[in-house]
Amino acid sequence: MQSILITGGAGFIGSHVVRLFVTKYPDYKIVNLDKLTYAGNLQNLSDIENQPNYKFVKGDILDKELILNLFKENNFNGVIHLAAESHVDRSITNPLEFAETNILGTMILLNTAKEFWKNDFSNKRFYHISTDEVYGSLGKDGIFTESTPYSPHSPYSASKASSDHFVRAYHDTYGLPIVISNCSNNYGANQFPEKLIPLAINNIKNSRTIPIYGKGENVRDWLFVQDHAAAIDTIFHNGKNGETYNIGGNNEWTNIDLIRLLCKIMDKKLEREAGTSEKLITFVKDRAGHDLRYAIDSSKLQNELNWKPSLQFEEGLEKTVDWYLTNEKWLNNVVSGDYKNYYQKQYS
Ligand code: NAD
Ligand code: DAU
Repeated sequence: MQSILITGGAGFIGSHVVRLFVTKYPDYKIVNLDKLTYAGNLQNLSDIENQPNYKFVKGDILDKELILNLFKENNFNGVIHLAAESHVDRSITNPLEFAETNILGTMILLNTAKEFWKNDFSNKRFYHISTDEVYGSLGKDGIFTESTPYSPHSPYSASKASSDHFVRAYHDTYGLPIVISNCSNNYGANQFPEKLIPLAINNIKNSRTIPIYGKGENVRDWLFVQDHAAAIDTIFHNGKNGETYNIGGNNEWTNIDLIRLLCKIMDKKLEREAGTSEKLITFVKDRAGHDLRYAIDSSKLQNELNWKPSLQFEEGLEKTVDWYLTNEKWLNNVVSGDYKNYYQKQYS
């Protein structure tokens, strides 16, 4: 019997991880702890909310007492920690919130797990979900491996790098059984439309301009979110104690090429004349400290644990567009209210 705490399970990636674990492992107990910030949405999990092996708890990872009580009540032997402030642009305007949630929140979870498990670390696992952004930025060549030195540039990536260091420190100092993965850019259903792909889909749908930072030459390595969830499943169960695994799609795109491909798909899906959506592309002021290129070498995960991405990018992107066009209610709901203020401030 596994009893697992998943943090941030109402967010984009977390909801795919929760669904995978709840449906694939009916004999596991899954507790999803999420504060439901602007990025958390219980609609993401409406299909599994009544499963007997699943429980949702609304709460903050900064709440020490709550976390300890949850450990006592559920006798967790695993933690999969995804809760975070995750958007780089928001970290530029509000860095302190990122330090609190991403660094201090991770430390509170680590500390509780260490105290609760201290008499017996066997069959326990603290799995920290991190990002490739901790490695900094690549030039035209090169690729991030697990031994690439950390060189974060944004408050977001600095906070994630810091939390990674604390996770390793708890392993090296106290023997806490940990595993870390650093993943590239995810895309797919349920992603909040502040991130490039869902933001562009929403704007194209509404014939609004598509803001591209700088010249659109920055490169990201895109991975379908369900492939990330499958990698998390593999690493949680088979990853070696104390190790780090890079996860990526081996799928590099400049932002401008990606958006042009998305425009073609959207024209077809919306039955608009070819070239209509591309006219919406607008180059805007660049992001401060904008990393030029990320690229992930995931050969350790592929060779040692036998994981690989399942989808070609065009297929995944088309599926993603279909999801957003079909789930209009979800999209309209998340872009109402605060989103309008955010958008206004970010892009005016
Ligand atoms: P997201 O912003 O969609 O979701 C984050 C979730 O965490 C939300 O449900 C939010 O309510 C919750 N949360 C935030 N603060 C909290 C707090 N104090 N207490 C409890 N819950 C809180 O993020 P995402 O894109 O799904 O990313 C999930 C994790 O994966 C993050 O740790 C992120 O750094 C990492 N990651 C993301 C990507 C990506 O491309 N999105 C890639 C690599 C790694
Ligand atoms: O690499 C993994 C990271 O990917 C995750 O750790 C982060 O949580 C996730 O947000 C993502 O970070 P990015 O900054 O790469 O993602 P974003 O979707 O914000 O931007 C992707 C690229 O598109 C980046 O080069 C900036 C650019 N961009 C983004 C937005 C929102 C634009 O050109 N215009 C935009 O409006």
